[in-house]
Amino acid sequence: MFKKSFNKMIVVVMVLCLAMVFVGCGKNEVSQYEKIKKSGKIVLGTSADYPPYEFHKEVDGKDQIVGFDIEIAKSIAEDMGVELEIKDMDFGGLLAALNTGTVDFVVAGMTPTDERKEKVDFSEIYYNATQAVVVKAENKDKVKSMDDLKGKIVGVQMGSVQEGIAKDQIKDAQIKSLSRVPDLMLELKNDKVDALIVELPVAKAYIDKNADISLSGITVKDETAGSAIAIKKGNQELTDQINKTLDKLIKENKIENFVVKATDMIE
Ligand code: ARG
Repeated sequence: MFKKSFNKMIVVVMVLCLAMVFVGCGKNEVSQYEKIKKSGKIVLGTSADYPPYEFHKEVDGKDQIVGFDIEIAKSIAEDMGVELEIKDMDFGGLLAALNTGTVDFVVAGMTPTDERKEKVDFSEIYYNATQAVVVKAENKDKVKSMDDLKGKIVGVQMGSVQEGIAKDQIKDAQIKSLSRVPDLMLELKNDKVDALIVELPVAKAYIDKNADISLSGITVKDETAGSAIAIKKGNQELTDQINKTLDKLIKENKIENFVVKATDMIE
């Protein structure tokens, strides 16, 4: 009798000990902010297919990722006193990479939609742009409203807000979602799609270098426009730090400068 309750007590004590160990672990867990500081580097996730936001360019004979988002990311790293490491991946995989810890933050011209806000946290908005519909130059006078795209093949980036815009605003559209924007541009040039939706600065970047494509006359309705930086949920210290850098850059008009500089670098 005595032995039985004694055994029970031992079990209870053991469970309590284990619980204390777990609580202790929770307390000692270093925040992501601390982890970045300690490791001396912050890992950026981006999709470098979106000039002037982020794109590949050969600099001094070496392939590099440049763009105004990259300049912003560099400023964030600099303010934290750490190195910046860049991971280029498909846009559609960025938030998963953030949540599994493959990257520390995402700067990719990403729009902070309500749906995304359920999965990750966002910084303040650092840049605003409208959406544009790009068509073959020879069709530009034929495409004046979303109605003119009825039943047409519309290309968008996989996992982007443009996917939703095409679904919601074009009747019977056949939506073609591809992972990378340069592939979408090729599809348009080769008449595999009738139109593309991308942010206006990106449309302009490609049109400037390709005489056979052009802006259509469509003005896209889009209340969610604007780009913000994504951070894994529950890392307030890191979010605050990033907002601090953004505030400074916005106040000093640096982001506009970065955009001009990045636009000049497009080849
Ligand atoms: N703003 C759009 C979105 O958030 C598209 C961003 C695409 N960015 C890129 N780097 N390809 O869905």
